[in-house]
Amino acid sequence: MTVRGVFLLIRRMRRCFTRRDALHILMRSWRVSLETRWVLDGFFSMPRNAIDTTRTAETTAIDSIEIAVAHEGDLDGILELQAANQISAGGMLSASFSRSQLQRIMKEMPLLVARRSRSIVGFLVCSTPDVMADVPIVRATLDAYPTRAPDAYVYGPICIDAQERGRGLARLLFEELKRLRPGREGVLFIRRDNDASIKAHRKMGIKEVSSFSYGGIEHVVLSYVG
Ligand SMILES: CC(C)(COP(=O)(O)OP(=O)(O)OC[C@H]1O[C@@H](n2cnc3c(N)ncnc32)[C@H](O)[C@@H]1OP(=O)(O)O)[C@@H](O)C(=O)NCCC(=O)NCCS
Repeated sequence: MTVRGVFLLIRRMRRCFTRRDALHILMRSWRVSLETRWVLDGFFSMPRNAIDTTRTAETTAIDSIEIAVAHEGDLDGILELQAANQISAGGMLSASFSRSQLQRIMKEMPLLVARRSRSIVGFLVCSTPDVMADVPIVRATLDAYPTRAPDAYVYGPICIDAQERGRGLARLLFEELKRLRPGREGVLFIRRDNDASIKAHRKMGIKEVSSFSYGGIEHVVLSYVG
């Protein structure tokens, strides 16, 4: 299809969808690569006069990122990034998984990583409620949202290296997860004081569905369908 054809198709679809949603539907059905999607997405959601000036550096940075399902060799990098982002180390991650827990998790659901030059610069854990049943904060999340789908899975934690934040990597991981688990509901919790995470997930279109208090700290429960 020609470029003009794509624009005409998007214009027609816009009678039912926003321009950005129409583009996403087309890209998904054509299996466009994640990096291309990100660039096109930026193009369509940005005022035209800003395209050439602001996206170039970010796009180059994102181009050298690889989003993939983790393998055994990625675990050291994931554990290192996780340790650097624990609350005890000044970060925002309340959960901490051991190597054997991660090995168990990755057998059931995709454990996604963002790599730059083979280094792990981001990860997204997701798991079945069964595997997480003994984690009290996950239990509290699920109890606070009993109307979830029977096959809903638990999303999170997600973590991006501090040097790589604000470039849309969290969104790339999320898009890949939705591609791998289409039509499934994902449920997550975020501390109410974690502004960056709440903003990033709202921007991805994830909706708040409930809330709960755990250890005296307010948390929100969010959900999406892939
Ligand atoms: C939350 C996190 C995963 C977001 O990842 P990211 O790749 O930086 O997210 P994005 O680049 O997609 O950012 C999207 C939006 O998040 C918001 N955001 C990002 N960093 C922010 C910050 N430091 N403060 C406030 N908002 C922020 C912005 O609204 C941003 O959109 P904008 O750039 O158009 O303003 C990342 O900040 C992180 O790893 N934090 C530490 C661990 C953590 O809190 N994990 C989540 C546990 S629930």
